[in-house]
Amino acid sequence: MKGDVLLGLQWGDEGKGKIVDVLTPKYDIIGRFQGGPNAGHTLEFDGIKHVLHTIPSGIFHNDIINVVGNGVVIDPVIFAEELRKLDDRGVSYKENLLVSKKAHLILPTHRLLDKASELSKGNAKIGSTLKGIGPTYMDKTGRNGLRVGDIFEDNFKDRYQTLVDKHLSILSHYDMEYDLSEYEPAWMKGIDILRQLTAIDSEHYINDSMKSGKKVLAEGAQGTLLDIDFGTYPFVTSSNTVTAGTCTGLGVAPNRIGEVIGIFKAYCTRVGSGPFPTELEDETGELLRKNGHEFGATTGRPRRCGWVDIPALKYAIMINGVTQLAMMKADVLSSFKTIKVCTHYIYKGEKIDYLPFNIDDDTLGPVYHELEGWDEDLTGLSDISELPEAVNQYIAYLEDILETPITIVSVGPDRKQTLERNLSFA
Ligand code: GDP
Ligand code: IMO
Ligand code: MG
Repeated sequence: MKGDVLLGLQWGDEGKGKIVDVLTPKYDIIGRFQGGPNAGHTLEFDGIKHVLHTIPSGIFHNDIINVVGNGVVIDPVIFAEELRKLDDRGVSYKENLLVSKKAHLILPTHRLLDKASELSKGNAKIGSTLKGIGPTYMDKTGRNGLRVGDIFEDNFKDRYQTLVDKHLSILSHYDMEYDLSEYEPAWMKGIDILRQLTAIDSEHYINDSMKSGKKVLAEGAQGTLLDIDFGTYPFVTSSNTVTAGTCTGLGVAPNRIGEVIGIFKAYCTRVGSGPFPTELEDETGELLRKNGHEFGATTGRPRRCGWVDIPALKYAIMINGVTQLAMMKADVLSSFKTIKVCTHYIYKGEKIDYLPFNIDDDTLGPVYHELEGWDEDLTGLSDISELPEAVNQYIAYLEDILETPITIVSVGPDRKQTLERNLSFA
């Protein structure tokens, strides 16, 4: 059995949490492969809204195993808080939540280093979520990091202190005040809670499961344009958010990857700094933000909004080997008279259809194709056949230009507001 992948094609917040939750009944195992509490994945059902940061979005389904893979970075404080919220909702996770021994730990000092780095950058800041993601992955690649498996060793406290001392010496070069004692006790308590969960060799678990016929869905965090290699560097996150991240972050070999479901919004958003060629800094952008409730699930920051960007989506489809698409938030576009789609850019006086190396909003102008909008409310639809003609035309246009089928159309945040369109797997 091959493992399927579901990931974002834009700058994150495409609606990954919702669709993983919707697809979970088709699978036996859901595995997160990268990122950490910079992610905020929202699920809505039975009038409940729930945001997950580190825990995979299959957790609300009994009997489905959820694996936090080796590629994920964990903040024990945030993780413990996520568990507490699941407890409050009566969700059982003792048996069906497994954590890789090789997942790295975010230390309180990683958070401080993230903040110090952002402060020192001034206006050039990345707009990080300040969760310590960058410094933790830096310690991973720098071969200094602490992993979940280490918390069971007798020398864990000593190793923790050695790394903290190293961080404090780096922090002394920054002009930033901090109080480590604010976060450290909660962090140690979080470690105790983490010790009570089942830590596993997740690469063996995933591969053995696939061998015995179990179906695996890998859940991405962030989005392709935030990928450390292929995103809008340096305004990116610090992990590989693309399909290849499943290979390194869960231990799934490339030839074991099956379907790749790429998620995109019917428009586009970005939170944090960095280029965004189709950004609308006008009333239309404001309307998208208002209608789409575009405020960050992790930080509450207003998301920047704009039209869908085809060269960027094509790039993401290529890098990820996307086999099918999920188009999210179609309902948000209701009441726009016309809808624009960026097909090309004008770059240094030339019309191009790809993302150049230097993506600078000042030198890159979008070229738009306009389509007819629709004013019907889509949120009450329950079958794909009920979509208004203008929506079908928008879908057909995107499928044609992206050369990839759209098999899921989402028309609201709730589980039930999901329309399947020749969904052909699992
Ligand atoms: P993720 O990080 O990719 O999981 O996405 P987020 O949860 O950060 O952001 C997506 C937001 O859009 C959440 O508030 C969802 O509840 C909401 N959402 C998801 N799909 C739809 C949809 O089709 N229509 C509307 N209106 N909201 C949606
Ligand atoms: P989900 O999984 C949207 C952005 C931050 C910042 C940049 C780097 O919910 O889609 P980091 O804290 O990773 O060092 O920040 O990446 N970012 C996200 N934007 N959704 C996310 O996750 C994000 N995770 C990080 O805003 O621009
Ligand atoms: Mg999110």
